[in-house]
This record gives sequence, C-alpha cells and structure tokens, in this order.
Amino acid sequence: MLKTMGEPRIKIVAMPKDTNPAGNIFGGWILSQIDSAGAIAAREIAPERVVTIAMKEVVFKEPVFIGDLVSCHAKVTEVGKTSIKTVVEVTVERLTSEHTIMCTHVTTAEVTYVSVDRAGNKKIIDEDLKRLYGF
Ligand SMILES: CC(C)(COP(=O)(O)OP(=O)(O)OC[C@H]1O[C@@H](n2cnc3c(N)ncnc32)[C@H](O)[C@@H]1OP(=O)(O)O)[C@@H](O)C(=O)NCCC(=O)NCCS
Repeated sequence: MLKTMGEPRIKIVAMPKDTNPAGNIFGGWILSQIDSAGAIAAREIAPERVVTIAMKEVVFKEPVFIGDLVSCHAKVTEVGKTSIKTVVEVTVERLTSEHTIMCTHVTTAEVTYVSVDRAGNKKIIDEDLKRLYGF
C-alpha cells in the first residue's frame, strides 16, 4: 500500500514533550498526526473545510520513541456525497545503536471526513473535483 501513496503528508520528529509518563511517545500525539495527515489528503477533494467524523480502530503494534522520524502517508480511498474516506499509514525511521536506520511500520488507520462549509454545515462535494481525483 505504502508504495502507491506518494510522498508523506507529514514528516515530524517525535520530541520529549510528546511522551507519556513511561517515556514513550503518547498514543494521542500519534492519533493527532494521523488525523492531520488524513485531513490534508481529504482537503484535495473538499478544499473549503473538512471535519473528522470517524476514526476506525487504530492498533499500535510498535512503540514510538523520542527522536524517531515519524512519517504519515495518506490517500483518499472513497468519496461519497459529503464524506471522504482516507487511509493513513504511519512508519518511523529510527537510528539504531549500530548507526543504521531502521524502518518500522507503526499502524494503519482509516479516517473519514465530512465536507463542510465555514459554518460547519455539510457541503456536497463538487463532482468536477471528484472526477479530477478519479472518483
Ligand atoms: C460532520 C457533521 C456536520 C455531519 O453531520 P451529520 O448530520 O452527523 O452527518 P450524516 O449522518 O448525514 O453523515 C454525513 C456523511 O458522513 C458519513 N458518516 C456518518 N457517520 C459515519 C461513520 N461513523 N463512519 C463513516 N462515515 C460516516 C455518512 O455516511 C455521510 O456520508 P455521505 O454524505 O457521503 O453519504 C456533524 O456530525 C458534526 O459537526 N460532527 C462534529 C465534527 C467534528 O467536530 N469533528 C472533530 C472532532 S470533535
């Protein structure tokens, strides 16, 4: 899946301020990066404004540590009348004690957004933009 997703929507280094009491990176911080990356992808289809309506079960199989370079790839997979479904892949690059770079897949999330106007009311997605992006 990652190979077909192009450049990451977000690339960010996990910092000490993003840790939980045990010293690993806080899951909520990663969820926030996922939400932002999916929204950046969704905004291609609904440039005025999108809001998150649903985030499907997110399973963290690997911890993230301070200093990891976190990448969030995101792409739109379905577009409805007002909704935009995205898939977000989170990976990290970590420097090992042997000074090599290790790449780890952290999680995959499905996040759905709704196209809204500035007042927050649902807005029908433009058919031309849908077609432009192949939907
Ligand atoms: C987004 C919002 C305007 C939508 O209004 P609504 O009346 O609840 O919307 P609907 O039930 O008509 O659903 C709108 C679209 O979302 C889809 N949707 C609704 N619930 C969904 C869910 N659980 N998962 C996936 N898609 C969902 C619907 O299928 C519909 O898609 P379509 O128009 O493409 O057919 C409203 O729910 C809202 O303001 N929510 C808060 C958003 C927000 O602030 N998010 C940030 C986190 S708090």
